[in-house]
Amino acid sequence: MTQQAPQSQQQALLPGVKNTIAVASGKGGVGKSTVAVNLAVALAKEGHSVGLIDADVYGPSAPLMLGINEKPVVDNQKLRPLEAHGIKVMSIGFLVDEDQAMIWRGPMASGAVRQFMSDVEWGDLDYIVFDLPPGTGDIQLTLVQSIPLTGAVIVTTPQDIALTDARKGLKMFARVNVPVYGIIENMSYFICPSCGHREEIFSYGGGKRSAEGLGTEFLGEIPLYTKIREGGDTGKPIVVLEPDSEHTKKFLEIARNLHEEVKKFNETRPRDGGGNIVIDV
Ligand SMILES: Nc1ncnc2c1ncn2[C@@H]1O[C@H](COP(=O)(O)OP(=O)(O)OP(=O)(O)O)[C@@H](O)[C@H]1O
Ligand SMILES: [Mg+2]
Repeated sequence: MTQQAPQSQQQALLPGVKNTIAVASGKGGVGKSTVAVNLAVALAKEGHSVGLIDADVYGPSAPLMLGINEKPVVDNQKLRPLEAHGIKVMSIGFLVDEDQAMIWRGPMASGAVRQFMSDVEWGDLDYIVFDLPPGTGDIQLTLVQSIPLTGAVIVTTPQDIALTDARKGLKMFARVNVPVYGIIENMSYFICPSCGHREEIFSYGGGKRSAEGLGTEFLGEIPLYTKIREGGDTGKPIVVLEPDSEHTKKFLEIARNLHEEVKKFNETRPRDGGGNIVIDV
């Protein structure tokens, strides 16, 4: 008689969610939140149902970047996620003041993120994207251990110092057996809007080289562009602000590349008795 596999953690915590993906970086300020938000909306534009969990309880970005000023309501003893630009969203920024969010200790931070999974009515989704706090220290490690992740993507800028940190990110996920789908290079280059000159402010191509060296995929590159920053500050991700621009095409391409990688990985994953992918946390 074959033994019934135990229900995976993901099925218990997020029963209707197919894929849970962390957006991480070794270094702060490389554009994780910008990428997480635009990638989530790009995946939705590609036809997937998508949620975003802002797991950076120390410096939540989702409310500002998505232009959400409401508070979530409780429905049937669960919080209903807020919605913006076609995705469902939960952030500590909806619930407490920014100053309060800053003083959380590691276990409280993980507890809050866990509640964002267990106490929120996510429904059926193809993807939940997690925007992680920067770094690869104990706080981040505890956090990734408490989220049933199907995989992660690493955001980096192209210069050597950021890439060294990106490698640490890959190592952190390897320690907890979470596959890394690939690397996204942000702030890859800058095209001067007046003269068209291309400037590689933080060097160029490091993300692609690192991905090759580390045996992971290169999912794409995003240039430095003023409206990406402006969109982040005004609640309109670039994929919404300029839906037909080159920058939006880059995010849509990254979303497609990621989806392909996810499909490839999912074909080889162990399944439980109900056909669900087994993820141990
Ligand atoms: N490609 C880009 N072009 C222009 N501005 C960008 C780009 N990517 C990010 N920014 C801007 O850089 C700043 C930092 O980005 P963001 O907050 O996404 O980084 P982060 O890695 O999430 O930071 P933290 O480590 O603090 O969480 C923001 O003001 C954002 O709007
Ligand atoms: Mg951030």
